[in-house]
Amino acid sequence: MAEIQGKRVLITGSSSGIGKALAFALAKKGAVLALAARRAECLENVAADINTAFSHLPMPLVFPCDVAIRENVSRLIETSIQQMGGIDILVNNAGIGVYGNTEKTSISDFRSIMDVNFFGSVHCILEVLPHMKRKGQGHIVNIASVAAKHGVPYLGAYGAGKAALVALSQSLRAELSGSGISVVVAYPGYTQTEFFDKEKRVGGGRRPPGPYVSPEIVAKSIIRGIEKNRHEIVLSIEGKVLSSIQGILPRLADKAMARIAHRLREPKEGSNEQTKITDYRAFPEPGRE
Ligand SMILES: NC(=O)c1ccc[n+]([C@@H]2O[C@H](COP(=O)([O-])OP(=O)(O)OC[C@H]3O[C@@H](n4cnc5c(N)ncnc54)[C@H](OP(=O)(O)O)[C@@H]3O)[C@@H](O)[C@H]2O)c1
Repeated sequence: MAEIQGKRVLITGSSSGIGKALAFALAKKGAVLALAARRAECLENVAADINTAFSHLPMPLVFPCDVAIRENVSRLIETSIQQMGGIDILVNNAGIGVYGNTEKTSISDFRSIMDVNFFGSVHCILEVLPHMKRKGQGHIVNIASVAAKHGVPYLGAYGAGKAALVALSQSLRAELSGSGISVVVAYPGYTQTEFFDKEKRVGGGRRPPGPYVSPEIVAKSIIRGIEKNRHEIVLSIEGKVLSSIQGILPRLADKAMARIAHRLREPKEGSNEQTKITDYRAFPEPGRE
């Protein structure tokens, strides 16, 4: 069982959503925090609120930083280590979204996704690893997505970036075995955050209606996973179902995704085509299609 109390944790993307909820939940467990994201004022507010709620802990450090820029991340990791005395847990959570037809997704949208969701994490990992190796301990927690378990319609670019992060995590985990450094991957499902207001919509597909869980529930499950030394934390029922179907009956998973793609497809301009948006959990039963 990994102990959170007193651990020095750097969380990227902690100005809102899951990262912010993780910051509060980790502070509740007694962690010492460094918070990073681009919006300095939001970070300051999160740090002030945590300081009010957990005044016995050191005030969280705040680092405005764009994780897509390697030099920013070098400074972030170096200063965090200097000011906290080390980093025990790195949470790579910063992320952005693009939603819509893969064929309508521009190369620059693909690159933006990779720059933040993949290279942002790569930058942090490469900077923190020498430090963790010297200490002979550490946790690297990478926030992926259920969309990395199996490609999901209209999330081609996003899922590809998260799947790349998963593959990287698995390679690292093998290479680091016996080093005292663990690599954890979390796969959140739909979570109620401002992510969906900010994501770029390229058209062609509609967002499913949910269900969405709260970022606080997601944060709690991620922390439980870290404490229990889990390698993988799959966070939603849909994610668990999708993982199992993908492993045992991959063609069924493909059929389910085709059905979801059809239901969410935007009708062509001028057509009377009606597509029904129903709960995206509606997997076809084995043998029915
Ligand atoms: N919401 C979901 O349903 C869901 C599902 C699966 C996985 N996820 C993943 O969970 C993570 C958190 O997302 P969320 O739902 O909590 O959305 P969110 O509220 O929009 O949080 C995203 C965070 O990433 C930061 N960020 C974005 N680009 C950045 C950059 N270039 N450099 C540094 N920080 C950056 C944002 O802060 P600034 O804008 O201040 O930089 C924000 O703090 C993401 O990796 C997302 O892909 C979310």
